[in-house]
Amino acid sequence: MYSLQPFHSFGFASHAQELQHISSLSQARQFLFPAPTQPYYIIGAGSNTVFLDDFCGTVYIIAIQGIELYETDSDYLLHVGAGENWHQLVEWCLARNIYGFENLALIPGTVGAAPIQNIGAYGLEIEQFIESVEYLCLRSGEIKQLTREQCAFAYRDSIFKQQLAGQCVIGQVNFRLPKNWQANIQYAELRELHQPSPHEIFAKVVAVRQAKLPDPLILGNAGSFFKNPIVSKAHWHMLLAKYPTLPSYPVDEHRVKIPAAWLIDQLGFKGKWQGGIQCHAKQPLVLVNAQHGTGEQLLLLARSIKHKVSEVFAINLENEVQLLGADKAVTL
Ligand code: EPU
Repeated sequence: MYSLQPFHSFGFASHAQELQHISSLSQARQFLFPAPTQPYYIIGAGSNTVFLDDFCGTVYIIAIQGIELYETDSDYLLHVGAGENWHQLVEWCLARNIYGFENLALIPGTVGAAPIQNIGAYGLEIEQFIESVEYLCLRSGEIKQLTREQCAFAYRDSIFKQQLAGQCVIGQVNFRLPKNWQANIQYAELRELHQPSPHEIFAKVVAVRQAKLPDPLILGNAGSFFKNPIVSKAHWHMLLAKYPTLPSYPVDEHRVKIPAAWLIDQLGFKGKWQGGIQCHAKQPLVLVNAQHGTGEQLLLLARSIKHKVSEVFAINLENEVQLLGADKAVTL
């Protein structure tokens, strides 16, 4: 048995039967094609996965390294190994005057995980800079590539969470960053910056995140536990009539996104404990492993939040983190 505690940011003292690092897609093919009959699970930095229990199978850790930089007259092209650390890539780029990623500073996790959930924060989603994604297809054993359009990106979503879920191993992400950099300061907390440099945006995002979000190295967590729900305009109008201060962001002409943090806050969960698990006092969308909590306690708290939000607001919260039980994913 191998401890999973260092390999998932929630920090439960779970174990795996086997643990294997993967440093290339050809190695991934040796291990995973044809598909093993035993349960297995693939992680990057484990910052969006919670091992609720001991896992009776093999956990594969993607450790594919490498950053290659090319340029055209107008763009920088970056080919990055899936196992590279996301935040270190943001810093690597800034140090070389390659700009664009700064709004996504301090997001935990690996580069290979970024397209899976289309990481986003402070007004930017990574899809904007993705040119293509290279992956091993676990059905055919072939290495394939998808363009940005083929990745079907949406809010915290992509083809890798839908049609290709469980059927691919991402090996490399190819980014295109225009040399003609434009500041992205549409997000409320960045709007106060006046003609900021990329370095100033980076510093501000780091400061805002550090002020609000618990550091997983100090307080185990997996970032936002739930996705912000998207509701129809009719549903939104109905809620607004009852809750005039309800914040919202337009998605398209028919739909509106509502901050789950606001819903959870309204229901009084902020700062609440379930055993060793706490609904974070500064950002209630984040559940934290504050005092050696258990998977069971986490499920209890998450389920009671989901249940109450459904009862009061008729909104079905979906978890943003992946929850793993003894041999498969757990649903709330
Ligand atoms: N709010 C409250 N009470 C609180 C905190 C927030 O009511 O205690 C309400 C406020 O109305 C606030 C709104 O929630 O304006 C939004 O809060 P915040 O700006 O903190 O962002 P979020 O919607 O809760 C999302 C992402 C974060 C990302 C931030 C910043 C999701 C699921 N989460 O959170 O991503 O950092 O925006 O862009 O979309 C993550 O995915 O792990 C993550 C941290």
